[in-house]
Amino acid sequence: MTTQPTRLLVCGGAGYIGSHMCKLLSEHGYHVAVVDNLSTGHKEAVRWGQLYEGDIGDSAFLSRVFADVQPEGVLHFAAKSIVSESVSHPALYYQNNVSASLNLFEQVRRIPGCPLIFSSTAAIFGVPRSERINEAHPKDPINAYGRSKLAVEQALQDYWAAYGMPSMAFRYFNAAGADPSAVIGEAHEPETHLIPKVFQSILGDPVPLKIFGDDYETPDGTCVRDYVHVNDLCMAHLLGLRFLRLHRGAHAFNLGNGAGFSVREVLKTAERITGTAVRHELTDRRPGDPSHLVADSSAARETLGWEPQHIGLEDIMRTAWTWHRNRSPVKHDGA
Ligand code: UFG
Repeated sequence: MTTQPTRLLVCGGAGYIGSHMCKLLSEHGYHVAVVDNLSTGHKEAVRWGQLYEGDIGDSAFLSRVFADVQPEGVLHFAAKSIVSESVSHPALYYQNNVSASLNLFEQVRRIPGCPLIFSSTAAIFGVPRSERINEAHPKDPINAYGRSKLAVEQALQDYWAAYGMPSMAFRYFNAAGADPSAVIGEAHEPETHLIPKVFQSILGDPVPLKIFGDDYETPDGTCVRDYVHVNDLCMAHLLGLRFLRLHRGAHAFNLGNGAGFSVREVLKTAERITGTAVRHELTDRRPGDPSHLVADSSAARETLGWEPQHIGLEDIMRTAWTWHRNRSPVKHDGA
């Protein structure tokens, strides 16, 4: 008797982390379907499953997708995720991240026992009260992005208690890097994230990179972040799906490498990798930025058996560099 592959729906599967997830899932024998409104994702990144183009906030569209795919699990990456934008335009965040997510959950909860994996964020914790942030850390977000994700996490707890909808929320620290194949990677338009901006600068962006503040209480005054490879994040989701089969509930785990790197260290690492100086200038702090965010991921390691493979910043950034260099119209000779 042959068994059919498990059918999974990946919302936001045309985006950066979602597309890496689809690749990993298909490599592990899952049948993948993607929902994406292509507002920030890319059609060409959907290579491992059928694309249903539409918005998770659209109930009629979602009902059709669910009837067609009949998913046995849902992974939810579709969201707005830029901290500074959430400060200036919170409505986008409450509508896209909270309201549309609840709309998606209306479909999921109708399928008995259907597990949902949710992309949450380190931004739910706000200003760190300890060097590393574990799951017990107070959740006190300082921007609308963090608040929107925390609201959904809380809904997931309630949906488990009332409807028995099993879920797992993963709080990503700073997702970075690209699949070694370099056919998918980080490509936001406009780009706001540090590592892609640094490589864009090296590849000839005429605007110097801005360092947003060097008066933070960190060793060199610039913000410190925990960069974690996108494929390591995706592997946690795979382990999460397996875990949920045996341990129903509403779970949440922090995902990071446990090591913090400053903005200046990121610049230096890029210069080492490429042999090219990063043109930069110092400007004011960016609204909504906490000084440092570093994960304590021991729970994910111990409970899920998660073991990140890319643990050094240089290793992670090299994979990002390969991706950016390959997609640049001007090829760069750097290492
Ligand atoms: N930075 C600069 N110059 C830039 C871009 C960023 O100095 O041009 C600094 C930021 O101020 C910050 C650090 O680099 O201190 C990292 O910034 P990113 O924009 O790359 O990432 P964020 O830390 O703001 O946010 C990311 C995700 C969020 C997630 C958060 C969790 O975008 O979704 O990581 O740590 F919540």
